[in-house]
Amino acid sequence: MLDIILHAEWVNELRRALLRWFEAHKRPTPWRDNPDPYRVWISEVMLQQTQTATVIPYFERFIARFPDVQALADAPLEEVLRYWEGLGYYARARNLHKAARMIVQNGGRLPATADRLRELPGIGAYTAGAIASIAFGQPTPVVDGNVIRVLARLLWLKGDLKAAPAQKQLWRISEQLIDPQRPGDFNQAIMELGSTVCTPTQPRCSECPVSHLCAAYQRGQPTAVPEPSRRVPTRQVVDVSAIIERDGRFLLAQRATEGLWGGLWEFPRAARQGRESLETVALRAAALVGVQAEPSRILATVKHTVTYSRIQLYGYLCVWRSGEAQRGEYVAVEWITPDELGDYALSAPQRRLAHALAQSPQQV
Ligand code: ADE
Repeated sequence: MLDIILHAEWVNELRRALLRWFEAHKRPTPWRDNPDPYRVWISEVMLQQTQTATVIPYFERFIARFPDVQALADAPLEEVLRYWEGLGYYARARNLHKAARMIVQNGGRLPATADRLRELPGIGAYTAGAIASIAFGQPTPVVDGNVIRVLARLLWLKGDLKAAPAQKQLWRISEQLIDPQRPGDFNQAIMELGSTVCTPTQPRCSECPVSHLCAAYQRGQPTAVPEPSRRVPTRQVVDVSAIIERDGRFLLAQRATEGLWGGLWEFPRAARQGRESLETVALRAAALVGVQAEPSRILATVKHTVTYSRIQLYGYLCVWRSGEAQRGEYVAVEWITPDELGDYALSAPQRRLAHALAQSPQQV
């Protein structure tokens, strides 16, 4: 891939215009008010897959409960997961907790360089660059989806920018662009521009501080780049959770720590195979935890998407008939009352089943 040649005056003008715009337009956020390394770390991990406006209340609750690395390391994982509930991608919370314990064992301070930050679980090149630049003033680049879009438009970069050679090029470009005097502000400015002005479908070019430097704007085709990458087709999946009642209590099962929704609780769940009836899947779900139950009615259905699967989840109310609950593939099972549901960390779709149950627990 050809290297892009960046002219010094163009780079200087980009830095000047972006930083000036950022000063005037940056969104007030609690981590910007006080860019303590721990706070920057928590915020950047939350921001990995979640938008700023959603992150702010989660961040405030999380910091109030776990104000520093020590508090996070001392807390049980279960509680950290509960504070994460609703943000999704729970591996982030498990990695934060694991990394906090590693940091405490190594003296309690976050590493101050991108290379050493990357040795911690859950910190990739992007998050390491963000923390090193924002919290420690290191001139380390960041490349995320927003940065890719801004750079593609400024420099008219065609082709699949998610592919490895393009990624390498984007990191090299970012490295050359970053303002060595104000690396943290520069990185945040380019990300912020991408999320508020240089948006995917309807960029606000009239409000853009760098449109005079932008190749896509000058061509009159601001949305022609970046070009969409090839989509992986989604699979349709049907899952059934058996919501099993026994004497006013319901059976919850906790998933293993590794993998999707690791460590979270759910109503025992099985995937439909072939043309199985939903009752049959509910019976299989109950059997996973050693219970024979009689399906009674569908309580609720929830649609959600996980990476490449579109999942339709049925919550099937069932009445316990026989068998003591066993954990099977799960790590724990518990019979709980509907008002205890709030004490257990559930994934978002399972929480929706729990809400439906809380509204009609007597009608099994
Ligand atoms: N997206 C992720 N991190 C960000 C930050 N620090 N500022 C703006 N947008 C972001």
